[in-house]
Amino acid sequence: MAVLKVAKLGNPILRQIAQPVDFELLNSPVGEMQVLIDNMIDTMREEDGVGLAAPQIFQSLQLVVMECSFNERYPEAPEIPMTVLVNPVITHYGEEKAMGWEGCLSLKDLRGLVPRSEKVTVEYFDREGNFITIKAEGFPAVVLQHEIDHLQGKVFLDRMTDLSQLSYLEEFEEYIADKETIDSESTQ
Ligand code: NI
Repeated sequence: MAVLKVAKLGNPILRQIAQPVDFELLNSPVGEMQVLIDNMIDTMREEDGVGLAAPQIFQSLQLVVMECSFNERYPEAPEIPMTVLVNPVITHYGEEKAMGWEGCLSLKDLRGLVPRSEKVTVEYFDREGNFITIKAEGFPAVVLQHEIDHLQGKVFLDRMTDLSQLSYLEEFEEYIADKETIDSESTQ
């Protein structure tokens, strides 16, 4: 178990297309991939994120962890159980979109207003290699889109349609957060 260093915007690894996880490695008795997953979970929790993608810890692999437990800072944020996604693919984006404030551990201290589909369908494998399909809506759907974008070399800035809605965290909290109902603002 270890907390890993997080890659910051400008590091080329964040702009690469991540490689699929090899199932032989996922199930290997040596367990390197399982240790990596545990370390990603530790890192996400330590950094107070609700999601983390492997390129953010310098591994160009299609691997995502997400979790949102009760947080006093964001009491309204819906809870997301710990989920490990291996080789996830968004197979359907709902047509309806909503704007929400996002942050990213690789763009620390920035918040931006990002349009995302309200609903998505995602196919992935869990850490044991079982195939799973989920339909997500609202906050978990946003987290999934943000994290799976990381596997395609994209960050939330690339999805913004109005860069005037980009703010440092301190200014966001001073000028924006109190004036709007923020129920999904989070760092991923
Ligand atoms: Ni992120």
